[in-house]
Amino acid sequence: MITIKNLVKTYGTGAKATAALKGINLEVAQGEIFGIIGHSGAGKSTLIRCINMLEEPTSGSVTIGETDMTRLGTSQLQRERRRIGMIFQHFNLLSSATVYDNIAFPLRLVRTPRAAVDRKVKEMLELVGLTEHAKKFPAQLSGGQKQRVGIARALATDPRVLLCDEATSALDPQTTDSILRLLLDINRKLGLTIVLITHEMHVIQSICDKVAVIHGGVILEEGPVIDVFLKPREAVTRDFIRRESDSADVLEEAIHAPHPESARTVKVTFIGDLTYQSILSQTVKETNVDFAILQGTISRIKETPYGQLIVRFEGTPEAIERTLQRLAEQKLEVEEVR
Ligand SMILES: Nc1ncnc2c1ncn2[C@@H]1O[C@H](COP(=O)(O)OP(=O)(O)OP(=O)(O)O)[C@@H](O)[C@H]1O
Ligand SMILES: [Mg+2]
Repeated sequence: MITIKNLVKTYGTGAKATAALKGINLEVAQGEIFGIIGHSGAGKSTLIRCINMLEEPTSGSVTIGETDMTRLGTSQLQRERRRIGMIFQHFNLLSSATVYDNIAFPLRLVRTPRAAVDRKVKEMLELVGLTEHAKKFPAQLSGGQKQRVGIARALATDPRVLLCDEATSALDPQTTDSILRLLLDINRKLGLTIVLITHEMHVIQSICDKVAVIHGGVILEEGPVIDVFLKPREAVTRDFIRRESDSADVLEEAIHAPHPESARTVKVTFIGDLTYQSILSQTVKETNVDFAILQGTISRIKETPYGQLIVRFEGTPEAIERTLQRLAEQKLEVEEVR
């Protein structure tokens, strides 16, 4: 659906040049929710704005469907842009227009007949759950409601792609979740391809199918969220994941607390149905080791449940080794923690 090849964006020239994107390659499939995560200044906004040519790439190509966006003339580009919706962190609504008129705006811009505008706006209001608020002005809405207007406006022209630039960063956690649920719902109902950028792993974990980690204008790693989240290869990725759990210090302490010389501490990950099974207790009965749980979480990546335990095993070196082998044989991910 979207193919980005060797995308380079340099702002300015000469001594003042900033290389914001240094050769990005990405492939987003039709109907996918693709997340791009990175710290401030990593190049996220530049990347997403290059997808609809709000920012002109220095070199490389961006293809959406069959269309190479970098080769379009002005009028063709305007037409293609209508098929790409975009929502923003600060909503970018017209403050002097009602909710209804905000949503109608992109339709009126292309001289859509009045009846068709009305039909579409009402459909969009229904979709985002704002039917009762049609006559209000943005200042009378909560942040979450404003973003719903943003989404309705973005979808009014039936785009095939929705780009989200930190769409939930200005919202509280609960509102964030309701907006994420709405995006997921729209993705399923309309089969809409969504590309979102964020600096929050939580956003990625809740709704994305795939994730790419961007840092210094380069993609460090990418893949299905399950793989990247549970087996991060890069320090930057691990940092994003760690920041979601505030007990990192306590865990450090627990790991370094006095323990028998032969003890080994491991991270055990249960994915999918394994999450709910008593594999650990069955295994230690068999291998005759003791264990202490230093940390445990159960959560979900999109629909897939997973559990993660940091466990210290105590016993003879042979018995512990056998325990780790048995756990791995039963399809658990076992990784030694130093
Ligand atoms: N219009 C511009 N002119 C010059 N430099 C720019 C411009 N826009 C962005 N940059 C630079 O390009 C780099 C990437 O910026 P970008 O806005 O894409 O990062 P970001 O990942 O979206 O960050 P944030 O999370 O803070 O929004 C930064 O070094 C930034 O200073
Ligand atoms: Mg940005």
